[in-house]
This record gives sequence, structure tokens and C-alpha cells, in this order.
Amino acid sequence: MFATIPDVDFLPAAKQQRIESFYLIFLMHVFLILVAVFIYRNVRKNYRLTQNLQENQMQLIKNERMITIGKIGANFAHDLKNPLTVIKGSFDILKMKQSQLTEFEEKQCNKIRDAITQIDYLTRDVLEFSQFKEPKKEEISLLDSIRNAIDMIEISDNIKIELPKLYVKIKADKIKLQMLFANMIKNSVESIGEKGHIDFQIDEDSKKARIIIQDSGDGIPLEHTDKIFEPLFTTKQKGTGLGLASCKHIVEQHKGTIQVKTNPTRFIITLPKQ
Ligand SMILES: Nc1ncnc2c1ncn2[C@@H]1O[C@H](COP(=O)(O)OP(=O)(O)O)[C@@H](O)[C@H]1O
Ligand SMILES: [Mg+2]
Repeated sequence: MFATIPDVDFLPAAKQQRIESFYLIFLMHVFLILVAVFIYRNVRKNYRLTQNLQENQMQLIKNERMITIGKIGANFAHDLKNPLTVIKGSFDILKMKQSQLTEFEEKQCNKIRDAITQIDYLTRDVLEFSQFKEPKKEEISLLDSIRNAIDMIEISDNIKIELPKLYVKIKADKIKLQMLFANMIKNSVESIGEKGHIDFQIDEDSKKARIIIQDSGDGIPLEHTDKIFEPLFTTKQKGTGLGLASCKHIVEQHKGTIQVKTNPTRFIITLPKQ
């Protein structure tokens, strides 16, 4: 009765058109996504480059500053060292001669002695930090070096030091290594306070020696572990923040490594034997 709709050609054409526009939209989306990814990548790359450039610039400025501080500090500390040695020597002689001190005088003398020691440590820190001399290597015993370092620091009888059992020899700068251990021991002593212990361990393989220094002190907060080797970082009222920076510098001059672990505080130093 009714004429049938001649849809034979019409429907596939519409369908095809729909498919084509779908593809077109799909391709446009893909294209837009690709453009977005491309732009994002470039922006990110540029951002990273700018950030690296800024970091490098900051590092350069920081290095310049450190060199200047180092130079001024070195001259200052060097000039301070001689009069300080005179004060220290004269004070010891006077104290030895004066055997009958009252309690008050004894207290004052101890205060002077502590102040002299403090200035002595400060000048040593600054001098060591500002020394950029290359290490003069000779064969040394690590145990002797640690023993000499212990003699440089005032340590209370209540702090026990466990020395390594192994007698290991390496080629290193005698003075620099002594300064390295002295700085480590001084930090441990300051962290321990009244009573505690510092344990040294040494082990070796054919190429390198490893020294582990562990103490029973306060410990280092985890968020400080990245910063403690940076020059001028200190958590102490009278600290210079130069001790560990010097230690790192000495270790790196010897092509070694220094790491810190917390709870308990443990410093791990590796030094090549040659
Ligand atoms: N054995 C240690 N125990 C706890 N904290 C330590 C120890 N050694 C270093 N530190 C931390 O690292 C900081 C930097 O040490 P250092 O460079 O020697 O400078 P300073 O002793 O003058 O503060 C210290 O102020 C302290 O917070
Ligand atoms: Mg220190």
C-alpha cells in the first residue's frame, strides 16, 4: 500500500558520515593531546633548565662566599693562634705555681681554661676549613691517628672510648686525618654531654679501609642528615658549623666517602688504602 522508503543508499551514507566525523573528532582529540603533551614537555624541560641554571648560579655564589669567608677566617685564625698559645702556656704556668687556690679562684681558673679551649677549637675549625692544600700522603696507622686525635680533645673520664681491634695502615695525610678524627670525636663528645661512649670500628678489604664511629649521644634528627656536612650548618650555640664540612673535604681530598646514619649516630668513612 505504502511506498517503501528508498533507504538503501541514504542510511549507509549517513552512517559513513557519522563514522567519518567520529574519526575526525577522535583524530582532533589525539592531535590536541599530542600538542598538549608536547607543550607540557617543553615547558617542563625549560622549567628544569631554568631551575638547574638558578641552582648552579646559587652554588657559584655560595662557593665564592665560602672562599671569601675561608680567606678572611684563615688570616684571622692564623693571627689569633700565636697569642692564644702564649695565653694558654702562661696560664698553665701560673696555675701550676699557685697551688693554694680558694674554691672561687679554682672555679674562675676553670672558666678561663674552658674559654681558652673554646677559642682554640674555633681557630682550629676555621683554619682547617680554609686549608685547600692538597694532602701530603704517607703511610700511617689509622689506630695511631685516632689515638693522636683523642689527645687533642678534652674528654671527661665518664666518656669511654672503644678503640678498634684491627691495625690497618693506609696512605694519607697524617695531619689532615688527625683533624678529621678530632672533629668527629669532638662532635661525639659534645653530643654525649656528661656520660656515654664512643666506639670505633675498622675493617678493610684489599683496596680500602672503613672506619665506623658510633656514639651514645643525643642523635641527629633525620631532617638534619642532609645538611650537617654543609658549611656553617650548626645546631649549637657556640658552634661554627665548619667541622663536618672540613671532614667531608678531607675525606674527598683522599677520594673517600663519608656517610651518616641515625639512631644511634654512626659515621661511616671509607678511605682508599693508596
Ligand atoms: N656525633 C654527633 N651527634 C649528634 N649531632 C651531630 C654529631 N656530629 C655532628 N652533629 C650535628 O651536625 C652539626 C654540624 O657539625 P659541625 O660541622 O661539626 O659543626 P659544629 O660542631 O660547630 O656545630 C652539629 O651542630 C650537630 O647538629
Ligand atoms: Mg663540630
